[in-house]
Amino acid sequence: MASTLTVRVADVAIETDEIRRFELVAEAGGELPAFEAGAHIDVHAGEAGVRQYSLCNAPWERERYVIGVKREAQSRGGSAWMHALESGASLTIGAPRNHFALDPLARRHVLLGAGIGLTPLLSMAEALWRRDAEFVLYAFARSAAHRAFAARLREAPWSSRVRYHLDDTGPRIDLAAELKALAAPDTHLYMCGPQGFMDAVREGAPQWPEAALHFEYFAPVVPAEHTGDTGDDRPFEVELARRGETFRIGPDDTIAQVLIDAGIDVVTSCEQGVCGTCVTDYLAGEPDHRDFCLNKKERESKVAICCARAKTDRLVLDL
Ligand code: FES
Repeated sequence: MASTLTVRVADVAIETDEIRRFELVAEAGGELPAFEAGAHIDVHAGEAGVRQYSLCNAPWERERYVIGVKREAQSRGGSAWMHALESGASLTIGAPRNHFALDPLARRHVLLGAGIGLTPLLSMAEALWRRDAEFVLYAFARSAAHRAFAARLREAPWSSRVRYHLDDTGPRIDLAAELKALAAPDTHLYMCGPQGFMDAVREGAPQWPEAALHFEYFAPVVPAEHTGDTGDDRPFEVELARRGETFRIGPDDTIAQVLIDAGIDVVTSCEQGVCGTCVTDYLAGEPDHRDFCLNKKERESKVAICCARAKTDRLVLDL
């Protein structure tokens, strides 16, 4: 597992009936590790295990992290545990990691967030505004009462870049038409939200090249064409090119676990293909990708070893 640090919950605020905003500061005071827009942290949520939450404050802030947590009806315990936290509580977290970064070569950025999926996009909007970049943020919610971070979106210096869509009686956006109009070379699209929303965005963006799409899923539920999962759990070999070692991965093993059991320094977090922590470069062979965090372009050279298998007898990793 990744190294951890202890923070204190400095503030808990109600964003909506379902969403709390937590401000975290270093337990001992002082600065926290730096982060980039789009980054997330692991939060150790007691017996519920480790959960990932995106940082939504401005990425140049070093004195605090801000996260938003939606209490999920189908929670496995993590969001309920978070919602029981009060100001002053100590929390164990991992240092920020980023698998949902702004593309440095993009000329224009389209941010699309639904519900709690807005969180990573808020830090992106802050970063883009500061660098005077061209961007628009589409914020989707079920109703006005479900709008999280409404005050911040209204009061931010970049509030004129925000477009709201409310499912009920509020303003509505023709997503497919907007995406078609925005598609252009050097324009990148970043999306985060529940499964139905992500599917709608991807269906509405057929003219966008895959390499210009960036997405962050909440949970390992995803369209079959994205997973590439063959369902074939046959054994295969993993070769670590730099170490010169080879391991057999059995039908019930994961690559990451076999390597960890062998004492190799491999870092994992969600172990479900969501967070991107275990993503590793590969040099030969064909992975059977089963993650939810890599796009088509990234899959040409990277593999999430917590969940991937191999379509070839041997997969060579850059380890
Ligand atoms: Fe989260 Fe592999 S540990 S994607």
